[in-house]
Amino acid sequence: MKTQTDRKTRTLGGVGAEVGALGFGCWAIGGEWSAPDGSPLGWGEVDDEESVAAVRRAFDLGVTFFDTADVYGAGHSERVLGRALAGRRDEAVIATKWGNLFDERTRTMDGADTSPAYAREALVASLRRLGTDRIDLYQLHIGDTPPDRALELRDACEEFVAEGLIRAYGWSTDDPERAALFAGGEHCVAVQHACNVLEDAPEMLSLTEERGLISVVRSPLAMGLLTGARGEGRRPAAGDIRSTPPAWLSWFETGGVPAKHWAARVEAVREVLTADGRTLTQGALGWLWARSGRTVPIPGFRTVAQAEENAAALALGPLRPEQLEEVAGLLA
Ligand SMILES: NC(=O)c1ccc[n+]([C@@H]2O[C@H](COP(=O)([O-])OP(=O)(O)OC[C@H]3O[C@@H](n4cnc5c(N)ncnc54)[C@H](OP(=O)(O)O)[C@@H]3O)[C@@H](O)[C@H]2O)c1
Repeated sequence: MKTQTDRKTRTLGGVGAEVGALGFGCWAIGGEWSAPDGSPLGWGEVDDEESVAAVRRAFDLGVTFFDTADVYGAGHSERVLGRALAGRRDEAVIATKWGNLFDERTRTMDGADTSPAYAREALVASLRRLGTDRIDLYQLHIGDTPPDRALELRDACEEFVAEGLIRAYGWSTDDPERAALFAGGEHCVAVQHACNVLEDAPEMLSLTEERGLISVVRSPLAMGLLTGARGEGRRPAAGDIRSTPPAWLSWFETGGVPAKHWAARVEAVREVLTADGRTLTQGALGWLWARSGRTVPIPGFRTVAQAEENAAALALGPLRPEQLEEVAGLLA
């Protein structure tokens, strides 16, 4: 078995580190960046000082696991995270990702490179931006990489482990077969995949149980829809990906208006999720912990207040089994 779990902690086998059942996702704190056609890939403008303060506040509240990617903000997220963790690096568990090509100067993403040679190049650049000498969890960001290429990358990751450049690795993919392929590698300890109250991932959760992997859960709040804040009329700014949603982003309509179908489903489960004194956000995280003892949701954030509310969910723990059933019934 690669990993062990209890209610509040997850042990990453290869890393030998214990992380809390909650991590923080650092996409939003990368600030603005875009696709070659100019459409936004970030979450609008951010205040780096607030981002740094939020990371440090999370840390003080017991959150030590941070997930970023080289491409978030075209390198900016890694730099901000590195700055926030300076002096406390050894207490933190840092996950980042590679595979996308981008230009730090123009802050644009431009294609992907899944060659093993590029993986090494990207790794060296991430280490530099993060101001560290090793990555705790290195993740392949290209979810549909063909299996034969993925096997080459798995071998490359094992080399990186042997060289002490990374401690463990995983794949950010929603395809259980691909995740299983990577899981065959000795130091593969996690898969990063989407899952939230509105969009369950039963096959992936079964796989992580079977293979002893940690489920690093991305978009646990459905990109903000499950916080309720967007339903209250707050709309994302023009440079926010939610304001001009690409085809894969179904939670929001143009202008960042919550999609009616999904907003109605949030309302249907609001009462169950907010029982026991939880906020909606905390209920959405509690649902994920109740779904599997291997989940580590990584909600995005950009303020100290969000960091505090999200970190406080840990003490409230998983929803009760009957609440999980109630949610399933309401959404059936
Ligand atoms: N392919 C991949 O590998 C991939 C893809 C997506 C995400 N990820 C990872 O997963 C992480 C999380 O996913 P996500 O960023 O897509 O979305 P998410 O965690 O589902 O939603 C995060 C957003 O919700 C809002 N929020 C968070 N806490 C809140 C609170 N307490 N009250 C009110 N609003 C709150 C914030 O946005 P506003 O304040 O602006 O509303 C925040 O940016 C990312 O940061 C990234 O690390 C990875």
